[in-house]
Amino acid sequence: MAEPHLPTECAAPRLPRLSRQRICAIRRWTPVLWSIRIERPANYTFQPGHYARLGLPADTPDAAVWRPYSLVSAPSDSELEFLLVLIPGGAFTSQLAALKEGDALLLEQAVFGFFLETQLAPGDTLWMLATGTGVGPCVSLLRTPGALDRYARAVLVHSVRHTAELACRDEIEAPAAVSNSRLVYVPIVTREPGATALSGRIPRLIADGTLQARVGHTLEPADSRVMVCGNPEFTTEMRALLTERGFTPCRRNSPGSMLFEKYW
Ligand SMILES: Cc1cc2nc3c(=O)[nH]c(=O)nc-3n(C[C@H](O)[C@H](O)[C@H](O)COP(=O)(O)OP(=O)(O)OC[C@H]3O[C@@H](n4cnc5c(N)ncnc54)[C@H](O)[C@@H]3O)c2cc1C
Ligand SMILES: NC(=O)c1ccc[n+]([C@@H]2O[C@H](COP(=O)([O-])OP(=O)(O)OC[C@H]3O[C@@H](n4cnc5c(N)ncnc54)[C@H](OP(=O)(O)O)[C@@H]3O)[C@@H](O)[C@H]2O)c1
Repeated sequence: MAEPHLPTECAAPRLPRLSRQRICAIRRWTPVLWSIRIERPANYTFQPGHYARLGLPADTPDAAVWRPYSLVSAPSDSELEFLLVLIPGGAFTSQLAALKEGDALLLEQAVFGFFLETQLAPGDTLWMLATGTGVGPCVSLLRTPGALDRYARAVLVHSVRHTAELACRDEIEAPAAVSNSRLVYVPIVTREPGATALSGRIPRLIADGTLQARVGHTLEPADSRVMVCGNPEFTTEMRALLTERGFTPCRRNSPGSMLFEKYW
């Protein structure tokens, strides 16, 4: 049977599936850690916690290399920001590291993921626990006006190997300093003794109560909500630790008390 022929005016407008976007700015935190901002296409919408898919332009569409990256921008920003670490020999990042301002990247029009604060049940304190570039979605939340209004306080714990890897540190510290403890920032440097007040890995600092003592608040499912992002061994350890303490995962149509984003 012949395909029904739709009159032109009935066809829904279609957005391009992917687009080429120019790199507007690059900020290097260390030789292997940097932020980029790219042009934002029209009609590109997202929430804090979503991730985008970036591609490296290639001679043929099939040859392009694609990888997921968390959005660091606020949904209202005019450009899209990402925080990237170079993986030695990595198929994507080793080529990405060579790009300059003005060069192009491919961007899928859709956004992805369920690492969305809105998935959590109402609570009193939001704990954001991140390693390395996993701080990106937390910064997106902090940059989004009103995103944390339903909490009495928010705690951002960021663990990195070296001080210089505390990306966005000034941007987080400044509002925390004037927040009257509504925003608590706990930077943790693990491989430079004495660089920060706390220097151990996050799961151990929680297990022995050091982190809660530093923040001045307990971590309990009754009033705490937890977002965990970054290194997969870290997210796995945190899931086990929080489950043992009675935290519950978020399911479709069933808000929980903990959320995870694993980066590799
Ligand atoms: C939902 C999601 C969001 C992500 N967001 C970010 C982000 O905001 N910033 C970011 O830098 N990366 C992010 N990643 C990781 C990113 O997608 C790539 O995996 C990473 O950049 C490596 O790509 P590559 O092609 O250079 O390395 P590949 O050639 O794909 O990988 C080489 C090896 O490195 C391992 N690997 C991948 N990523 C890491 C890492 N970060 N540290 C150590 N080993 C790793 C892989 O398991 C693999 O064995 C995210 C991943 C997911 C799933
Ligand atoms: N950061 C660098 O200097 C550097 C340099 C060159 C290349 N790279 C590349 O970048 C990749 C990512 O490095 P990264 O430093 O961003 O991420 P990372 O290796 O995940 O380390 C980030 C932070 O997470 C901590 N961590 C690691 N495993 C953990 C676990 N199971 N539980 C709790 N905390 C944990 C680390 O503590 P510990 O210090 O205790 O591990 C560190 O404080 C590396 O694999 C490497 O390929 C990094």
